[in-house]
Amino acid sequence: MLDKDIESVLISEKEIEEIVQNLGTKITNDYQDKFPIILGLLKGCVPFMAQLLKHLEMHIEIAFMNVSSYHGGMESSGEVKIDMDLGTPVKDRHVLIAEDIVDSGRTIQSVVKLLKYRGAKSVKVVTLMDKPAGRVIDFVPEYIGKTIPKAFVVGYGLDYEEKYRNLPYVGTLKPKIYLTEE
Ligand code: PRP
Repeated sequence: MLDKDIESVLISEKEIEEIVQNLGTKITNDYQDKFPIILGLLKGCVPFMAQLLKHLEMHIEIAFMNVSSYHGGMESSGEVKIDMDLGTPVKDRHVLIAEDIVDSGRTIQSVVKLLKYRGAKSVKVVTLMDKPAGRVIDFVPEYIGKTIPKAFVVGYGLDYEEKYRNLPYVGTLKPKIYLTEE
C-alpha cells in the first residue's frame, strides 16, 4: 500500500540486512568487554537500532534520546531541540550513538558535544546512512552503513510528515506526494 508512493528503492531490505550484519561484526570486535551504551536518537533510529542490536555479540546497555531538527518538513531547520533526555548517566561510559541518517550533521554534533561534556569515556556514531552532500559542519561518523546522494529519502525509520517510517526499505518519494501536500 505504501509502495505506490515510492519513486525508487535506494536501499533494499536485503541490502539493509547485509549492511547491518557488517556493522554488527565491526562493532562487536571494537566494543568487546566495554559494556557500551547504545544510544538511539528517536524516532528515526528504531528499525535500524532494533536490527543492529541482534548482531551485537557482547553485553550492552540501551538508551534513547529524542532530539529533533527537521520538525516534519523536508529541510533541516538548523535548530536542534532535546525533547527527551536519556535516563542513564554517561560519565566514564563508552557511548555509541545509533542514527538512521547524518545529513547536515547538526543533530549528531550537538549530541556528541553534550555527551562529552557529561564525561563519557568515548562517544562514537553508527549511522545506517551518511549524506555528506548535506553537511553544513565538519563531521564524519565512525561507522557508516551506506553513503547516499543528496536526495530526500523515506522508509526504515525516516519519515515525510511522520509517514513512511514503517517501510522495510529506504526509497525516494514520488514528487506528487510532497507537491500535492504543500
Ligand atoms: C532526522 C534524523 C537525524 C537527523 C539528521 O531526525 O533521524 O537525527 O534528522 O539530520 P541532520 O544531520 O541535518 O541534523 P529528525 O530530527 O527528523 O527526527 P526523527 O528521527 O524523529 O524523524
